[in-house]
Amino acid sequence: MTPGAELDPAAVKKDFPLLEREVHGRPVVYLDSASSSQKPRVVLDAMQTYYETTHANVHRGVYALAEQATAQMEAARAKVARFLGATSDREVVFGKNVTEMLNLVARTWGAANLGPGDAVLLTEMEHHANLVPWLMLAEERGVELRYLPVGDGGHLDLTDLERLLDGVKLVSVTAMSNVLGTIPPLRRLIDAAHDAGALVCVDGAQYTPHLPTDVGELGCDFYAVTGHKMCGPTGVGALWARAELLEAMPAFLGGGEMIRDVRLDGWEPTEIPWKFEAGTPPIAEIIGLGAAVDYLEGLGMDRVRAHEVSLTGYALRALTDRFGAGIEVHGPSEPAERGGVISFALAGIHPHDVAQVLDQESVCVRAGHHCAKPLMRRLGVAATARASLYVYNDTADVDALVDALATTIEFFAP
Ligand code: ALA
Repeated sequence: MTPGAELDPAAVKKDFPLLEREVHGRPVVYLDSASSSQKPRVVLDAMQTYYETTHANVHRGVYALAEQATAQMEAARAKVARFLGATSDREVVFGKNVTEMLNLVARTWGAANLGPGDAVLLTEMEHHANLVPWLMLAEERGVELRYLPVGDGGHLDLTDLERLLDGVKLVSVTAMSNVLGTIPPLRRLIDAAHDAGALVCVDGAQYTPHLPTDVGELGCDFYAVTGHKMCGPTGVGALWARAELLEAMPAFLGGGEMIRDVRLDGWEPTEIPWKFEAGTPPIAEIIGLGAAVDYLEGLGMDRVRAHEVSLTGYALRALTDRFGAGIEVHGPSEPAERGGVISFALAGIHPHDVAQVLDQESVCVRAGHHCAKPLMRRLGVAATARASLYVYNDTADVDALVDALATTIEFFAP
């Protein structure tokens, strides 16, 4: 891209083969990237080329092919480390997705450090992936869970932060709500947590695909991402954690690759990060994730963010201008304080019906509880319809959404 130029979504769209296809006889308008982003050709090619030219198992063979496969996988680790602002590749563990990575933190660091009487602070806006692992730990070990509430307007209410942090050992929080698009004041939360003696784990699933990420600058202790929401393949995610934490944590899954020695009466783990990577890893997917990182860096994450702030502002205005009181948009109203995840309700029409009529117009949105049932309860709804924006979306996509919503309202008009 030309330095200084704005992101051109029409040019970006051409990089994504799936976006060329038609559904129900019309070009697809993909507005569900918070669920899973589409994949650029370079990611698909990287995986295909790997399988066609370099596939062998990693960290095992001494022949050239196996060494090349290992080198490619470890090069992808270095890319992910760089993308997250990590200072060492050893601090990046690969797994299946954010869900697995957060389970890893709960099952290893949590199991070693949390017991009856210890408290973990979460928020009401967490995805189930950042709730259920802690709820399981609470059931099994008597760990106390506390929650930062969501205030009106979709922001976290930090009024009671100090009191809630008292005696807490870990804060685990999303960097961007997958329902509201809210971006919590992470730096403030992290500083307050550290002052209270707690570590901080961040769910970066929705944030890292859209904004520059720097774990060093944030100062958190754990940071988890998933590949498939950031132009990468499904089946791969990563956890960053400070090396001394990873070294002190017990292993997660047991099996091949994660050991230094195994005897019939015992075993020793290998060094980090491989200590947490039992079994044959998703090699092609890791290489694909490395290509996705290259692709996003080529676009420039500052440009990606600027594009999305502008398009989110356009979408919020377009929805309220067209439907007024007939639509309720959840979450912060200021585009600079949120991501391009737009959950909404059309008066008197169930979100699933909205999504179904939109599908007939070839507009893809998600409807449901978005794996955030406690937040749905806080909002007083069973479900929302949700449009989510990414690098390949433009104002024409938003216009298509608005027109399709007008059709939906007509369709259900009494
Ligand atoms: N976590 C993904 C979403 O919000 C699946 O849609």
